[in-house]
Amino acid sequence: MDLEEINTVAVLGAGNMGHGIAEVAALAGYDVCLRDIKEEFVQNGYEQIEWSLGKLADREQISEADADEALDRITPLVDVGAAVGDADVVIEAVPEKMDIKKDVYGEVEEHAPDRTIFATNTSSLSITELSEVTDRPEQFCGMHFFNPPVRMQLVEVISGAHSSDETLDAIGGLAEDFGKTPVRVHKDSPGFIVNRVLVPLMNEAAWMVYEEEATVAEVDSTASYDMGLPMGLFELTDQVGLDVGLHVQEYMHETLGEAYKPCPMTEEKVEAGELGKKSGKGVYDYEDGEGVEIP
Ligand code: 3HC
Repeated sequence: MDLEEINTVAVLGAGNMGHGIAEVAALAGYDVCLRDIKEEFVQNGYEQIEWSLGKLADREQISEADADEALDRITPLVDVGAAVGDADVVIEAVPEKMDIKKDVYGEVEEHAPDRTIFATNTSSLSITELSEVTDRPEQFCGMHFFNPPVRMQLVEVISGAHSSDETLDAIGGLAEDFGKTPVRVHKDSPGFIVNRVLVPLMNEAAWMVYEEEATVAEVDSTASYDMGLPMGLFELTDQVGLDVGLHVQEYMHETLGEAYKPCPMTEEKVEAGELGKKSGKGVYDYEDGEGVEIP
C-alpha cells in the first residue's frame, strides 16, 4: 500500500500510548477510530486527548481551530468491527503482554480488510511472533512511539522476519507524515534499540535505591543536571508507567537473562497499584499535582 492510499487509522488501546498516537494521527489530518474494550477506557483516552490538544493550543503550538478539527477526526469506539472495518492501518497499543496482544490480533483479523497493514506499538515483544498469529505477516511491522507521543520525535519502525519492504516503507512514510522521524530497526530483538538501552538504565536506578546506595533525589538530580537527560530517571519511570516498564523488564529478563532482572521495588509498587503519574502515585506522589518525593 502506498502512503497516498492511507486515510483511515484505527488505534487499538486508549491508554497513555494509544490516545497519544490517536492524537498525533488526527493532528496530521487522518480519520482515526480509537478503540478500547470498555466505554470508560475510551472515554478517558478521549478526555486526555482533549486536555492535550487544549494544552498545545494554550501554548500556541497549534491553533484552537487545529485542536477542534483534530478532535472531530477522532471517533471513540468499543466495537472492534466498527473500529477496524474500514481501516487502512491498524496501530495496536494494548497492554504489553504477548497473550493479550495475540488475542487482539485474532479478533482484528476477522474484521479488517485484506489491504490493512497491522503496526504494533509494542515496546519489546517479538514482532515476528505477533505477526505469525495473523494471516498477513508480510503486512505487519513494529511502529514504536515514545511517551508522550505528541511531544517525542522518534518512532522506531521495526522489521519482523516476514515484514515486506512495501509495509516498512508505508509505515515509515506514515510516521514522517505524522511529523515524526522514523528510524528503521532491521532486527527484531527484545526491546529493539531504545528500550534495550533505556530500560536497564531505569532498572539500575531502581536497584540503587532499593539497595540504599542512593536516594531518588540523588539519582534524579544527577540524571537531569549532570547527564543532560531531559528529566530524572524516576520522573521518566513515573511518566512511562511502572507497569509498562515492568512488563518490558520481565520480557527482557525472560529472553536476555539475569542482568535484566526487574528490581523488587518496581514489582512491589506495581502490586500496590502505584503505577506512576496516571495513578497519582509511583516513585513520586502526585496528589497535589507536582511530583513530590515520598519520604
Ligand atoms: N500534551 C500536551 N502537553 C503536554 C503533554 C502532552 N502529552 N505532556 C506534557 N505537556 C506539557 C506540560 O503540561 C507542560 O505544560 P505547562 O508548562 O503549561 O505545565 C509542558 O508540556 C512542558 O513542556 P516543556 O517543553 O516546557 O518541558 P520539557 O522541555 O521538559 O519537555 C518533555 C517535556 C518533552 C516530555 C521532556 O521532558 C522529555 O523529552 N522527557 C523525556 C521523555 C522520554 O524520554 N520519553 C521516552 C520514554 S521511553 C518510552 O516511551 C518507551 C516505552 O516503550 C516504554
